[in-house]
Amino acid sequence: MTDSWAAFGADLHIEPVGTGLRSGLMNALREAVRTGRLTPGTRLPSSRMLAVDLGVARNTVADAYAELVAEGWLTARQGSGTRVAQRADAPGPAVRGAGGRQVRRRPVHNLMPGSPDLSAFPRAEWLKAARRALTAAPDAAFGYDDPQGRSELRNVLADYLARARGVYAGPERIVICSGFVHGLTLMGKVLRRREVRAAAVESYGLDIHRNLLADTGLRTPCLPVDELGARTGKLGGAPGVGAVLLTPAHQFPTGVPLHPDRRAAAVDWARSSGGLILEDDYDGEFRYDRQPVGALQGLDPERVVYMGTASKSLAPGLRLAWMVLPEGLVDEVCDAKGGFDWMSAAPDQLTLAELIASGAYDRHVRAMRLRYRRRRDQLVEALAERAPDFEVSGIAAGLHAVLELPEGTEQSVVQAATWQGLALERLSRFRHQDAAPGRDGLVIGYGTPSESGWAGALDALCRVLPQA
Ligand SMILES: Cc1ncc(COP(=O)(O)O)c(C=O)c1O
Repeated sequence: MTDSWAAFGADLHIEPVGTGLRSGLMNALREAVRTGRLTPGTRLPSSRMLAVDLGVARNTVADAYAELVAEGWLTARQGSGTRVAQRADAPGPAVRGAGGRQVRRRPVHNLMPGSPDLSAFPRAEWLKAARRALTAAPDAAFGYDDPQGRSELRNVLADYLARARGVYAGPERIVICSGFVHGLTLMGKVLRRREVRAAAVESYGLDIHRNLLADTGLRTPCLPVDELGARTGKLGGAPGVGAVLLTPAHQFPTGVPLHPDRRAAAVDWARSSGGLILEDDYDGEFRYDRQPVGALQGLDPERVVYMGTASKSLAPGLRLAWMVLPEGLVDEVCDAKGGFDWMSAAPDQLTLAELIASGAYDRHVRAMRLRYRRRRDQLVEALAERAPDFEVSGIAAGLHAVLELPEGTEQSVVQAATWQGLALERLSRFRHQDAAPGRDGLVIGYGTPSESGWAGALDALCRVLPQA
């Protein structure tokens, strides 16, 4: 990746500190490196351009650069200009959690999977929808309400999910919840009340989801995942398993869609054993090269609990998600929900309903699909150039991709990235404790950075990859 002077110049904001132009400039550059504003590897503008920008003589800048090179803050190489030295310390500012607890240092670049581009949240459309929805809302909408969720939202979701995801969804089967994690917790409780002892999970997935199920008292044995998705044919042999949690459209994190034979095997198992499939459709809207893979739920709505979320399509901070349930489960889930947290916030439910009904939600998803597809293409292109021998997979859909690394390098690459202010996630972090050892890799969340941060994040990634 080459640096753009225009982008760089806009971000630099160097103001000489103290007396003397040369030493003032040196102080300012040291400070920018020390605080992480200029990360290791960042290319500085040429001495001529910075001199013009600051209105000082070119020699002043050239001398300051030369001294900082001698001190080890910068490096200068023929052809690649002057850069911030790799070993210069560049900590991000500390982030404080509730009560002033220091949580972690905020990275300068973030390619962690799990988040959409938060800078793209459709604020204006959300505000317009909120105004319309709250103006039209009956007084009762502001009182204690039905744990199942507002009918306005359930009605539009039923149409949207049937149209966009192939879900068989009448509003009477839908329960609104506060994020997928909430829906999964409710299902864990319902399964335990039904005396189910175990829920199988994929051998790669989020530990938070496994832990939530375990907290409700369920065992979580794992199903191996390969290039066709979870090996659902093994469900029959698993003792005590009454449910299975799957990510059929886009396995998290490996990125493969569940093969049609494996989908059929999961449904056959559920029918013959009376088990339930918990379908996590967390990013089903984002598929780039062909039509999205339809939801598994359409194959048997009485055996599949479909769970969707606004966390990827809009923002995780909304805490809005939906479950489409087999008819016989609706009351049990509402009982578990009503006795626990009662209901999800009505104004947000009404706003989302209005956003979907007005077509603004579809427009937003379409625009984001284009944005993420462009980033996906740029990532693949940059990796083909920088790391042609490492395989990139899981790129057909979603907001993340998996980059295979040479054996034994996963930890050191993530450490090198942290050192340079780049947050990256290891593939092994998602492996189930009972899973067979697997390949080394990175799970690259290309959806996470803002538009303005994306090029820098990609550049930083390319710099930390090992040589093939
Ligand atoms: C695999 C997977 N499922 C579900 C979710 C959504 O979770 P929630 O709706 O609780 O934000 C995520 C979000 O990162 C995810 O990665």
